[in-house]
Amino acid sequence: MTNPRWAGDRLHRRAAQEGYRSRAAYKLREIQERHRVVREGDAVLDLGAAPGSWLQVLTSLTRGPVVGVDLQAMAPVEGVTLLVGDFSQPAMQDRIREILPCASVVLSDAAPKLSGNRDYDQARAVSLGEDALRLAATILTRGGTFVVKSFQGDLFEEFLVEVKRHFRSVRVYRPSSTRKGSRECYIVARHFLGGREPC
Ligand SMILES: C[S@@+](CC[C@H](N)C(=O)[O-])C[C@H]1O[C@@H](n2cnc3c(N)ncnc32)[C@H](O)[C@@H]1O
Repeated sequence: MTNPRWAGDRLHRRAAQEGYRSRAAYKLREIQERHRVVREGDAVLDLGAAPGSWLQVLTSLTRGPVVGVDLQAMAPVEGVTLLVGDFSQPAMQDRIREILPCASVVLSDAAPKLSGNRDYDQARAVSLGEDALRLAATILTRGGTFVVKSFQGDLFEEFLVEVKRHFRSVRVYRPSSTRKGSRECYIVARHFLGGREPC
């Protein structure tokens, strides 16, 4: 679990002390504190979920069903259904909808492996966000919430406009636990305009 790159990082050490699988837990905690994205009873889909620290936080926020999906296998999280695979693939999306036909909240902290080429990485990250949005639009109930990691730069504004077409309220939020110098941010989109009635 310990990534030597972050070993000296204060939040990394805090996460280890508090039993979280990664420092990413604090990003969701901050998003939740500021925007109250998850409520008790929500059915939640978490995309790009490994190693599972958002799932750990989620189990303390909702008693509803929680499904986590990642390319990488991860250790079980009590009360959570885990799927291993690529959420942008139709077969995996069918599998997700079989298990969770509708969700009130879809979260995506998914990020591609970085190549080191800034523009290429930016384009892949935005494209992953678009995949998450397309999937969310098929599974969210009316009025639902979508939170997606993105990166400010080329293509970001276009993606933001696309998100705004689907939700009544859209904010860009940068948790303080985000690493200094990173262009990472989260789009917090509420009140999904499509979808069916809550199930
Ligand atoms: C920053 S990590 C997520 C951390 C997680 N939120 C946590 O709290 O532990 C990003 C994850 O996105 C996953 N990922 C990237 N592309 C994906 C895809 N197409 N389908 C599923 N998972 C993907 C990666 O495997 C990686 O584990």
